[in-house]
Amino acid sequence: MQMVRMKTNAHSMPTMTGLYIHIPICVSRCRYCDFYKLTPNEWDHVDLFLQCLEIELRRLPAGFAPDTVFVGGGTPTALEPRELATLFDCIHGSVNLTNGIEFSSEANPGTLTPDKLSIMKEGGVNRVSIGVQSFNDKALRLLGRIHQGDGAIEGFQMLREAGFGNVNIDLIQSIPGMAPAEVLADARRVVELEPEHISYYNLIYEPDTPLTHDRDAGRIVPPGDDEEADNYFAVKALLEGAGYGHYETSNFCKPERECRHNLLYWQAGEYFGCGPAAHSHWNGARFGNIRDVQTYCDRLLKNENPFDEMERLSPEEKARETLVMGLRLMEGVDLAGFEELTGFRVDELCGEAVEHLLAEGLLQRSGRRLALAQTALFIGNSVFSELV
Ligand SMILES: C[S@@+](CC[C@H](N)C(=O)[O-])C[C@H]1O[C@@H](n2cnc3c(N)ncnc32)[C@H](O)[C@@H]1O
Ligand code: SF4
Repeated sequence: MQMVRMKTNAHSMPTMTGLYIHIPICVSRCRYCDFYKLTPNEWDHVDLFLQCLEIELRRLPAGFAPDTVFVGGGTPTALEPRELATLFDCIHGSVNLTNGIEFSSEANPGTLTPDKLSIMKEGGVNRVSIGVQSFNDKALRLLGRIHQGDGAIEGFQMLREAGFGNVNIDLIQSIPGMAPAEVLADARRVVELEPEHISYYNLIYEPDTPLTHDRDAGRIVPPGDDEEADNYFAVKALLEGAGYGHYETSNFCKPERECRHNLLYWQAGEYFGCGPAAHSHWNGARFGNIRDVQTYCDRLLKNENPFDEMERLSPEEKARETLVMGLRLMEGVDLAGFEELTGFRVDELCGEAVEHLLAEGLLQRSGRRLALAQTALFIGNSVFSELV
């Protein structure tokens, strides 16, 4: 697998760095999503947001030269062409973007136009992550998406026509009402498109979203655990058979096409997050920006910090978190490298829990690596909860 470039300092801590930029705008609200975003009916001051984002970017440490940039949301491609051009101008004017960095942007197929895509390309974007979720129109209606299956395919083709050679497709699994054959049809359709990367997320019922209300009221019935697991392993086999390596619990890619920005999160790299609700992890501290775009703007205009949470993890907490994040990767955690990075041995930190999980067949150890066992892939979160 492609490893992110890890420079090390005198303390052998990684100094691979990333920049995340959150665009808090969506055309409409999908029924399952609780990412921070507003629709134009709710807040229509994009120019003010971009002005304040620029103030925040200019507050980053002088000379900050991230190894990866990820523009996410919300929906970056919900911005108008003029607004997108301003966004990229302010990124380039504030951040030192060196050659060869991975520069990703998220995109919603219902918002793409050739002129937006050429502005993104000129702005340096070299990887696009497109939210497809499913190609099945019935499922897309249930999820409240603004596009149909054909629109998702057209959006993907538009990306190729614009010259993007590194594209991720987001799919969601366990959508209520989809028969196993329909789940596999989605997986076959994605393989036919030949994206470089596929994120295959399990549907999360976020608190207080319309989809969760539907489930709680019995209007929709999620698939049972066995059916979910069968679908997951059938899709995994299909994608692997088509040449996609399974490198993280929810992520598959063609050789050397791992998402370097996400690897940074999973390999304990440090990053700044800009924009409302964005999180940063820098110098051992975690910051969370306020989840309200108007207050975010008000604070930056007064030259105040936009974050309202700050937490410094103890070295032990940081080590546990590094272990759990690393176990999301299929290659698992290199035990010697972990000790060098964190100063803790895994057996000191949580030896008993690890032995128990090994005995249960949920973790596996081979040589100097500890990894999730295949049987635990689908229940990774419950394994991780025993280790933190
Ligand atoms: C910011 S969106 C991607 C770009 C664009 N906003 C869109 O939706 O097309 C990030 C991705 O998170 C995933 N996602 C959001 N909420 C989710 C949930 N409740 N369960 C599973 N996946 C979710 C979707 O796959 C979505 O494509
Ligand atoms: S899934 Fe994407 S488009 Fe839908 S509400 Fe969430 S961020 Fe917006």
